[in-house]
Amino acid sequence: MMVAVLQLAAAVSALCWGWSRGSDDIVVGCGGFVKSEVDINYSLIEIKLYTKQGTLKYQTDCAPNNGYFMIPLYDKGDFVLKIEPPLGWSFEPTSVPLHVDGVNDICTKGGDVNFVFTGFMVNGKVLSRNQNLGPGGVQVALRRTGSGVNFQTTVTQTGGKFAFYKVLPGDYEIIASHQNWVLKEVFL
Ligand SMILES: *[C@@H]1O[C@H](CO)[C@@H](O)[C@H](O)[C@H]1NC(C)=O
Repeated sequence: MMVAVLQLAAAVSALCWGWSRGSDDIVVGCGGFVKSEVDINYSLIEIKLYTKQGTLKYQTDCAPNNGYFMIPLYDKGDFVLKIEPPLGWSFEPTSVPLHVDGVNDICTKGGDVNFVFTGFMVNGKVLSRNQNLGPGGVQVALRRTGSGVNFQTTVTQTGGKFAFYKVLPGDYEIIASHQNWVLKEVFL
């Protein structure tokens, strides 16, 4: 009798172990698209899956034709999906936290995780005459050509460098101004 009970207990515990073990093992794909309204080379974009602690678990390129990516997941848990594009390319969002529970998360449900291209970086320099450097504190504005309206404004850093982000292809003009100094010409 005693032996039978013990055996039963062993069987139950084995069963529970089997269940809990089984429920941590999942195979789902986290997929989605990198989307852009302008032509960008999707092959240059990496999608990376990190653990919550920041360890890289998986990385993949995007399909060159449509920006599709798919990352396999074998465990439940908390992860972060990040887009790592070439320097100066902006996307929204830049990362997506994933709480993969095997039931309600976007990956298990087969939903898409998408990243949308929001533009390139445009940078330049305001130079002092006959020098390779320029002043900081110069106002620089980016306008759509002919619009007369500032699309973005910034101020030069020490040395004269400036940058605009999230600029989609198009025709723009750049206007630099300063309270005291006369600026002759600014170019990209
Ligand atoms: C996109 O980038 C890949 C990787 O650098 C390159 O092999 C390919 O030629 C590029 N495609 C286009 C259309 O520029």
